[in-house]
Amino acid sequence: MQKIMETQAFQTLMKTKVTEIEDILKKYLPGEEGYQKTVLEAMNYSMLAGGKRLRPMLMQETFRMFGGQGAVIEPFMAAMEMVHTYSLVHDDLPAMDNDEYRRGRKTTWSVYGEAMGILAGDALLNYAFETALCAFDAAKERITAERAQAIAKALQVFARKAGIFGMIGGQTVDIEAEEKQSALSTEELLFIHEHKTAALIQSAMMVGAILAGASERDVDAVEKCAYNVGIAFQIQDDILDVTGDSQELGKPVGSDAQNNKQTYVTLNGLEKSAQEVERLSREAVEILNGFAGEHDFLEQLIIQLIHRRK
Ligand code: IPE
Ligand code: IPE
Ligand code: MG
Ligand code: MG
Ligand code: MG
Repeated sequence: MQKIMETQAFQTLMKTKVTEIEDILKKYLPGEEGYQKTVLEAMNYSMLAGGKRLRPMLMQETFRMFGGQGAVIEPFMAAMEMVHTYSLVHDDLPAMDNDEYRRGRKTTWSVYGEAMGILAGDALLNYAFETALCAFDAAKERITAERAQAIAKALQVFARKAGIFGMIGGQTVDIEAEEKQSALSTEELLFIHEHKTAALIQSAMMVGAILAGASERDVDAVEKCAYNVGIAFQIQDDILDVTGDSQELGKPVGSDAQNNKQTYVTLNGLEKSAQEVERLSREAVEILNGFAGEHDFLEQLIIQLIHRRK
């Protein structure tokens, strides 16, 4: 089998996979009815705005690499994108990064108002857990004890990586760092990147591995691999905030400078940042190559992210 797929074949496959993922997401989104209709509309507005769907994709690919089969992964894929989308809806709020464009359209708060922006984020977070819990029903037949245990373990990881020891922890330090006059240490910056961004990417890949029945040792290796992918992803995000095109990105450029954010780019410059994205991504691929399962697409995905423009 050809190790690295041709770029065009990869792009076509990627499009098909995104469509499949979006079909799964749509199955789990709430209907827009009842007295609370506005918040439901705001949730769906942010979820259906488009976006790369990277986290559910990483989850599904990792699940497949470890031989996972069946629909148990689907509610977790939807839940993952809900948590990620909520993190963006809140990240854009005036009290946080104060951004008005996201995924090529007006941000949720700027369409529905700040209060609804807050509530839509809260709603997506809570609904994510309601959705992930559907994994217990996803198997048509009676669920085995082993399967139930894997779902419980996946939920543990999913909850922790989104919370105070994960994404929320990182966002806290990111916001506080805006007020800092002195330069952040590498350790502080890595804390921010690891928690605000790598944590959800770790969650995606680890949940995929756990639900497929991967060993503890393999799940640990997946966590390390996803750490690299996540840090590289955020450094590239910082690069694109300087060198990107807002039309292509679907979100503003220059937001970090406006918010006095210290990023990998402000601390190390563009060239060193790009080298670090490449180094971390290659290291992630090396870890991936230690797994027996087929992972051509996953490998290519990580490589493509090095030079992503959006
Ligand atoms: C944006 O994530 C937030 C970061 C962690 C940098 P993505 O770049 O994956 O956003 P979407 O989902 O494609 O909109
Ligand atoms: C986002 O970091 C991390 C999140 C948890 C949302 P950024 O603030 O840099 O993400 P963008 O650039 O707004 O997408
Ligand atoms: Mg932010
Ligand atoms: Mg932001
Ligand atoms: Mg950014």
